[in-house]
Amino acid sequence: MRQWFHFPKDNTDRAVRRWLRATLSETGASWSMEERECAALADRLMAGLDDRHRATLEAVDRRYDEGELDRLGGWLDRVVSGEPVQHVVGWTEFRGLRLACNASALIPRPETEEVVTWFLEGVDRMMDFRRRKGPVKVVDFGTGSGCIALAIKAARPHWEVWALDVSDSALALARANGAALGLEVNWVQGDLLSGAVGDLPQSVDGLVSNPPYIPLKERADMDAHVRDKEPALALFVPDADPLCFYRALAVQAERLLQEGGCLLAECHFQFARQVADCWQLEAAETEVLSDLQGAERAVRQIRH
Ligand SMILES: C[S@@+](CC[C@H](N)C(=O)[O-])C[C@H]1O[C@@H](n2cnc3c(N)ncnc32)[C@H](O)[C@@H]1O
Repeated sequence: MRQWFHFPKDNTDRAVRRWLRATLSETGASWSMEERECAALADRLMAGLDDRHRATLEAVDRRYDEGELDRLGGWLDRVVSGEPVQHVVGWTEFRGLRLACNASALIPRPETEEVVTWFLEGVDRMMDFRRRKGPVKVVDFGTGSGCIALAIKAARPHWEVWALDVSDSALALARANGAALGLEVNWVQGDLLSGAVGDLPQSVDGLVSNPPYIPLKERADMDAHVRDKEPALALFVPDADPLCFYRALAVQAERLLQEGGCLLAECHFQFARQVADCWQLEAAETEVLSDLQGAERAVRQIRH
């Protein structure tokens, strides 16, 4: 551990929290962390130590022994060195689900939680209209940690969910997350770009995806803890063809999506309009959806 970490004078919850915040604030300057972010990060490390969820964080009155302070110090070291806090503590929360995180998959982002809501709404709306018989079937393309597929299954337990990824290590993480949560999803290894998508049902009610969408030319300007610590396979697309995944999704929608089905994908805010244009489903209704910050975040199509 680094020499310049001084342990807190007291081992109460309050003192340890103050120590973490102050150390992050002193050392975080180089990667321009604001006070608010230091506080959130300190809380996150303490929650990681106790396996606590955010809501119960302030309610604890406890003292920390030497081993625990050592562990927190080691985590501080890794965070200050640029490792994402979710990798350091090993988990994150997504729509109330606790998901393991590691370097084989993208860390689930808060904005993707809203994408799940928009997808559920889109499929539900058409279900009412179609009075469908039999189980609703949906597919998540590029599942990573499994966050979207698992959140759908948790919200709609009677739906059948498939989730595909090209990466074996991401699928291993997703499968482990599903098993830990007791949520049944059909995990499929496949390549969306080549169209070799493996064993999916012949017809489905919804397709959802948060595909890679950052043009490679943006790499140099990205935060180092994203650029260097999260898988390039999950992040980047060629500068010359930033919409390649959206075209591949349109091909799968033509093949798999039933009448009244919902196709939804998260997008780069600069490309949402182009994605809407490139999806040319026959007689489809298309919406560009904006997130809580006002950025155009996703495109949804309902096929009539
Ligand atoms: C932006 S990440 C999204 C992960 C997760 N769905 C989420 O929202 O956090 C994109 C995912 O697509 C996967 N991927 C990349 N190329 C792919 C391909 N050709 N076919 C299928 N999946 C692919 C990556 O491995 C990665 O897990």
